[in-house]
Amino acid sequence: MRVLSGIQPTGRFHWGNYFGAIQQYIALQGNEQSFYFIADLHALTTVRDAKALKQNVTDAALDLLALGLDPARATLFRQSDVPEVTELMWLLLTVTQFSLLEKCTSYKDKVAKGIAPDAGLFTYPVLMAADILLYDSDVVPVGADQIQHLEVTRDIAQRFNSTYGGEFLHLPTARVLKEGAKVPGTDGEKMSKSYGNTIEIFEPEKSLRKRIMSIKTDSLPMEAPKDPETCSVFALYQLFASPEQQGTLAERYRAGGMGYGEAKQAVFDASMSYFNAARTRRTELVADPAYVEGVLQEGARKARKKGQEVLKRVRQACGLLAHATDASFNP
Ligand code: ADP
Ligand code: TRP
Repeated sequence: MRVLSGIQPTGRFHWGNYFGAIQQYIALQGNEQSFYFIADLHALTTVRDAKALKQNVTDAALDLLALGLDPARATLFRQSDVPEVTELMWLLLTVTQFSLLEKCTSYKDKVAKGIAPDAGLFTYPVLMAADILLYDSDVVPVGADQIQHLEVTRDIAQRFNSTYGGEFLHLPTARVLKEGAKVPGTDGEKMSKSYGNTIEIFEPEKSLRKRIMSIKTDSLPMEAPKDPETCSVFALYQLFASPEQQGTLAERYRAGGMGYGEAKQAVFDASMSYFNAARTRRTELVADPAYVEGVLQEGARKARKKGQEVLKRVRQACGLLAHATDASFNP
């Protein structure tokens, strides 16, 4: 079984990204074959600054490795290091109906947020389909917002297969990451870069404390009993604490006599200790850029090997010569 997923390097990863996605990528690694990539080509639809993009990609690799993505058990690569993916995208575009893309809600949402409605943004799901189909992926762990893109991927693959009369492309299935998991941000809304309410995983200690202390709460006085169920500080604490610790803090909420400052301090302490080993590991990785680059290049080598095999099959299916995918072809 091949598991594949991609994450866009559009900024530093936050607690929502970790508990909603990255933690599960790591749990799934070692599954016969796990392919994870940094979707830098997709990020071009929103990041238009070369220096920033490069830095984001480096940070994404460092974060993922520090958090436990293990190159011995998973293949980690940069999307743009496998140029076969953009060729496959073109081949898929030729069988993709315009109306299929027009239905995609993520496109409409992004345009509503003010992102330029260019052809790259519109055809984003086709590049995503190419990402998935290029490696004969079986299972694709994604957030609920990406399920529609998986349906588009299956639709395009079926259309390609029926157009050319064969099972050339393998149909993937989506695996929804922690259904309903919604990590709240500092304002109580879903944590997201686009809302400016994130708490970054590797935020320096001082600004981490500041971010946590800025989490919005109600204005009940210290003495009043409080409801842990409706409090985002408590929701965040649950991500890091054991069931016993959660029970103890919940009781203190209900008993009254505890201010939110104390609960926030508990979130700070619990998160610092939760990510402590990852922080240490990240510092070590920053000091060894050659190792990180080596991991990405080795990942790209493995991914390309599989990608070239699939692209060859697809080229042949549509009547293109396959020799261009051979390393020995050198016109
Ligand atoms: P952002 O909303 O900050 O731009 P992305 O859309 O790049 O984040 O998210 C990448 C992955 O992280 C998504 O697939 C999603 O599953 C997960 N994710 C992001 N924010 C949250 C959140 N607040 N709660 C749970 N999962 C999240
Ligand atoms: N579109 C995904 C997101 O925004 C990222 C992504 C790109 C992806 N290509 C993919 C995810 C292929 C899974 C498989 O989260």
